[in-house]
This record gives sequence, C-alpha cells and structure tokens, in this order.
Amino acid sequence: MAPMKRFLARTFPSLYHQMAFVKHRLLLPGVEGPQLFATIFRKNFWRGPDSRSGRGSGFVQTEKIRETLPALVKELGVRSLLDLPCGDFYWMSNVALELDTYIGADIVEELIMTNTQAFGDDKRTFIVRDVTKDTLPNVDLILCRDCFVHLSFEDIQQAISRINNSGARYLLTTTFVDRATNRNIRTGQWRPLNLEKPPFSFGTPLRLINEGCTEKDKDGTYADKSLGLWRLPL
Ligand SMILES: C[S@@+](CC[C@H](N)C(=O)[O-])C[C@H]1O[C@@H](n2cnc3c(N)ncnc32)[C@H](O)[C@@H]1O
Repeated sequence: MAPMKRFLARTFPSLYHQMAFVKHRLLLPGVEGPQLFATIFRKNFWRGPDSRSGRGSGFVQTEKIRETLPALVKELGVRSLLDLPCGDFYWMSNVALELDTYIGADIVEELIMTNTQAFGDDKRTFIVRDVTKDTLPNVDLILCRDCFVHLSFEDIQQAISRINNSGARYLLTTTFVDRATNRNIRTGQWRPLNLEKPPFSFGTPLRLINEGCTEKDKDGTYADKSLGLWRLPL
C-alpha cells in the first residue's frame, strides 16, 4: 500500500472507505448484478500482476495454500471439490490435488469459457454459477476463497444458504481472524471479514490455514488472512 493510502486507512478509516466507495462508483458506473464482476474482469479492475483475479490470487500470495491444500484434501478424504469462485484458475493450475472431480465455478461466463478451453478435461470441469442464487453441485468440499469479502451481508447470507443446501461436507473459506467486527459493503467492493463474528458467527473452525499474506501492506495489516475449515451445514 502506498504511504499516503496507508496513512489515510489508519488515521481516517471512515474517509478511506468512503474514497474506495467513490472510486468504485466512478470506475464501474451503474454496473450491478452479474455484469458487475464481468466488467471487473474485462477491465482488469483488480490489477493483479499475474492473475486477473487480483493480487491475492497471484503466485506469491498463494504459496502457502498451494503447499498446504493437497495434504488437507488427502487428510479429509475429499474426492470431489467445488472451487467457487475459481476466478481465472491461475494459482490452482499449479496445485496437484488427488481428486476424482474438480469443478470450478464462477459468475463470469467469459472466465468459465476460457478456463474450459485452457484447463478442462475428464476430471476437471468449469461451470457458470452465482453462489448467491444457483443450486450448487454436491461435493465433499467447497473452497470459497476471496469471495464473501466482495459481497454484501445479504448476498453472503444467500450464498451460505446455497452452500448449506448443496449437501457438501466441508467449507473452506476466507476469514480474517483478528477482526473484532464486520462491516457491510455494496457487492463488488472489498473489506476483510471475520466469519466467527456476527452476523455470521460460524463458530470455531476445524482448521485454520494462515495464508502468510503480505499483500498491500508490508507491516502486515492483512497478516491474519486465513482459510477456515467448517463442517457443513453451518
Ligand atoms: C478475487 S476473485 C477470487 C478467485 C479465486 N477464488 C482465487 O482465489 O483466485 C473473486 C471471484 O469471485 C467471483 N464472484 C463474485 N461474485 C460471485 C458470485 N455471486 N458467484 C460466483 N462467483 C462470484 C468473481 O467473478 C471473481 O472471479
């Protein structure tokens, strides 16, 4: 994070969040619903240097989870995985998971078409799904990384309901464990979320994988970014 941005975020957090909101409205004028994330993808709005899914999806920020995920999948006896959202599949294409079925899903159709062409095979399929509205396939594990952080409270509750109804056994999802409270946003913006706190109150996760996040802030502002594992239904 640039020094001025860091200063603003720490000294005037509410002003900083207002600025982020204005930037969002200016760069994505009037875009709502399914078109929102398609526009973000097309405009490369998140400016990831090696992944269109943003800096958090790049090679460096995913090192820890790329190392940890295969052993966790094995230990849990997971044979089928729904990676929702899969984004551009950049970091996941570098993970060797022992699975019978991998399903990557995302709300952006363009991403799904590109992923299918580049990475689809007998065991690996990509499908368009809106986690807040669509019926989800029944799998052993749903990986939902860096998704709820972009959604309003209302959309997250809808998504949790879809995930619960899918029949999956486990959910592995992003949580920032040191945050005392959660703040609502408009879908499409971003903020950290602690899923153990209201209005989610998931309870203690079965497992926590700290991602070793160094994104944006060299002082470690996002050092608590983790993947939490919960048994479903929540
Ligand atoms: C920051 S990227 C993370 C992608 C991936 N999980 C990763 O770790 O690289 C967020 C993704 O969420 C997708 N997305 C946003 N809202 C969604 C929804 N309601 N249903 C499915 N995917 C959604 C976006 O299209 C985008 O690809």
